[in-house]
Amino acid sequence: MDLNRKIIAIDGPGASGKGTVASRVAAALGFDYLDSGALYRLTALYAQQCHAGWSDETAVAALAGALPAEFDGSRILLDGRDVTDAVRSEAIGMGASEVAQLPKVRGALLQRQRAFLTEKGLVGDGRDMGSVVFPDAALKIFLTASARTRAERRAKQIGLPAEGLAFERILADIETRDEADRRRAVAPLKRQPDALLLDTTRLTIEESVKKVLDWYAEI
Ligand code: C5P
Repeated sequence: MDLNRKIIAIDGPGASGKGTVASRVAAALGFDYLDSGALYRLTALYAQQCHAGWSDETAVAALAGALPAEFDGSRILLDGRDVTDAVRSEAIGMGASEVAQLPKVRGALLQRQRAFLTEKGLVGDGRDMGSVVFPDAALKIFLTASARTRAERRAKQIGLPAEGLAFERILADIETRDEADRRRAVAPLKRQPDALLLDTTRLTIEESVKKVLDWYAEI
């Protein structure tokens, strides 16, 4: 069987809910799940721990290539230490976006991402799943939501009200990171011509998951 038929590539901007949707789709189909953003976040954290500047391409690429990371269910380990919460911080998200602009870093993480694919099948989420990592994926989806909705979801996740200064800060951070991801020269965030658009602004997680499963059943 052509293994590409068992790949679903889900790309989109940050805080769009694609991680939640992708992991639930993977569970429903019995596929593995790849959170590619976590690898960029781990790289940024590891560089910080090793005192390498996020713009030092050679040093960061070497660290990315030798990332001592493990995925244990929903927990993420770096050098044996649980960094699940540490990698989720907004500061590390910004660092991830910075190291993700470096071609050598992307190159260093490419095979590692492809190695997640086995006979079981894979749902991968990120920015370049459908364009670079799995260009022959059977189903490609560009999952998005308005910046305000994404900021509301992020605020809810960390227990903040969807208004006020802290909320405006979240919204501004989301917009800054979107802009950096869209404008970069390598693997920019962009809907591929063969990707189906899933705008989740007015959809629940369950509705979004169902939509993806319906599309997958149709191919
Ligand atoms: O998806 P998440 O917010 O965890 O990703 C963190 C950052 O990693 C993104 O802002 C993006 O710059 C980068 N990234 C990427 N390519 C991917 C996944 C994430 O460039 N496939």
